[in-house]
Amino acid sequence: MSSERVGSIISISGPVVSAKGIPDIKIGEVVYVGEERLLGEVVRVARDHFVVQVYEDTGGVRPEEPVYASGKLLVAELGPGLMSSVFDGVQRPLNVILEKTGPFIRRGVKVNALPRDKKWEFKPTVKVGDKVSPGDVIGTVQETSMIEHRIMVPPGISGVVKEIHEGNFTVEDTVAVIETASGQVELNMIQEWPVRRPRPFAERLTSEVPLIIGQRVIDTFFPVAKGGAAAIPGGFGTGKTVTLHKVAMYSDSQVVIYIGCGERGNEIAEMLKEFPELIDPKSGKSIMERSIIIANTSNMPVSAREASIYMGITMAEYYRDQGYHVTLIADSTSRWAEALREISGRLGEMPVERGYPAYLPDRIAEFYERGGRVRALGSPEREGSVTVLGAVSPPGGDFNEPVTIHTLRFVGTMWALDPELAYRRHFPAINWLRSFSQYAEIVERWWVKNVAEDFPRYRAKALRLLTVSSEIEAIASVVGESALPDDQRLILLAAEILKEGFLRQTALTGVDVFCPPLKQYWLLKLMIDFFDRAYDLITRRVSVEEIVNLPEVYEMMRVKEDERDLDAVKELYQRVMAKLDSIAKRHGVVLEQTPMSG
Ligand SMILES: Nc1ncnc2c1ncn2[C@@H]1O[C@H](COP(=O)(O)OP(=O)(O)OP(=O)(O)O)[C@@H](O)[C@H]1O
Ligand SMILES: [Mg+2]
Repeated sequence: MSSERVGSIISISGPVVSAKGIPDIKIGEVVYVGEERLLGEVVRVARDHFVVQVYEDTGGVRPEEPVYASGKLLVAELGPGLMSSVFDGVQRPLNVILEKTGPFIRRGVKVNALPRDKKWEFKPTVKVGDKVSPGDVIGTVQETSMIEHRIMVPPGISGVVKEIHEGNFTVEDTVAVIETASGQVELNMIQEWPVRRPRPFAERLTSEVPLIIGQRVIDTFFPVAKGGAAAIPGGFGTGKTVTLHKVAMYSDSQVVIYIGCGERGNEIAEMLKEFPELIDPKSGKSIMERSIIIANTSNMPVSAREASIYMGITMAEYYRDQGYHVTLIADSTSRWAEALREISGRLGEMPVERGYPAYLPDRIAEFYERGGRVRALGSPEREGSVTVLGAVSPPGGDFNEPVTIHTLRFVGTMWALDPELAYRRHFPAINWLRSFSQYAEIVERWWVKNVAEDFPRYRAKALRLLTVSSEIEAIASVVGESALPDDQRLILLAAEILKEGFLRQTALTGVDVFCPPLKQYWLLKLMIDFFDRAYDLITRRVSVEEIVNLPEVYEMMRVKEDERDLDAVKELYQRVMAKLDSIAKRHGVVLEQTPMSG
């Protein structure tokens, strides 16, 4: 820039700085604040001053220090080298910063998101003379053992390939030259994208394939579609983080972006230690080979926490555009909303509910709406998705507060964590009566096609059983269980088997940490067919005692953990059905051939 645009600070309030003297400054422009040139972004422009939110600690910065305009928006740097990285909220790689400054992160440290010295083997996929337009893949780089990075023509550039290189290059080296209508453009492997703006795509597709997580209560009952959005609200210690870690580890998405947003420092430290040690069950490699972490502890400036969400989702969209299924996890969006609230307060904005600004619902909506399944721009034709999962930490666990209420308006799935279940150590503590999934019906088609045709009937029946049993439980708590009629006692028993043998699932070790869809189906079939047959028997005067005391009842609650996996479930199924048949014979009752009639 020929004439540098420099202003000066008027006043400082925490992360919010007022300044003057740059008449043409714009909202969203990045500025460098003070002698130390702290990174900031203009959030308000008035006639004679402007306001900056600063992403670093402003302690010691004084009025009249300079403010330098950059002429640029807040952008994410996109290219090979993102994968496996751990960034702070403004995309500075934490390991590089720590190397530079030691454990106490110095302010004003400028580091590139992508390593500049590393060479990547670039394999072209276009040739000289090819016509290219935005989104076209011009070559690939093996970014990690699990991710092939597809180098795309950036938005806004179309033309004919004049040069294309093959070999080892850094991200700044030219790999292609494009002859455009307005002259030659050299392309390297870096793209920049303003984080607050969604990246373009060719077409939005409907989300109809489930994200398989291997947790039964989620996959079977409250699924999220690839490209959908889910929230997991829950009070302190109810299992938000554990559940989301499981998704990061076991879900069948190809890329995971994990935003640790304002969580306690030790929790993030634990995660940074733990994640690289987690092994992707499919490939046997560290899950970092397909993950990016954004770590924003509660002791970092709140404004960086505000930005981290946008950094994360922009990187997610970028891998989506390459043709990947990406899961974006934000833990916790409540800490992000609190950052909004704090900044808004310092800006002197009028608070509405519980101190949150009036634009809170819009911001939440914008975030979740950046999820989706799309056909990407350019060729070859690619489909990708961003599934957005957000933890919500309502104060006191009371869902009746603004962040939870507004979040639930914009997500298709809620996994409602229940302190009562967590207290009883029923994990995952996802309440099956309060949770919901708007994708359930659509993704059932996937289950019908890939798992079993009669899955929807078993699912519906199990949900009905759980609902009815909770009503009966309420009665039983007054009159006592033994006073209930036999059919109601059987319903309670079946629900107990479902809760213990199906819904409850360990997050720790053993065969049950990941339950494949087919096994989920067989467990459900076992429990529901058992119920149906047993119900048939007791309506024909077989006493419920005979059923309750079967040793197979206990086995049904435990078979999920049997090392023989699916075989064990099928084997138990045969035995349970045979047992019920023999009871029927003894009583001279003829059972219907196909269970699952009712
Ligand atoms: N699926 C699970 N299986 C076994 N234990 C679990 C499970 N989920 C949670 N727990 C237990 O509950 C504890 C708290 O879980 P977690 O840290 O995920 O809660 P949180 O909701 O993220 O809490 P916070 O509000 O503090 O962030 C865990 O340390 C673990 O002991
Ligand atoms: Mg947590």
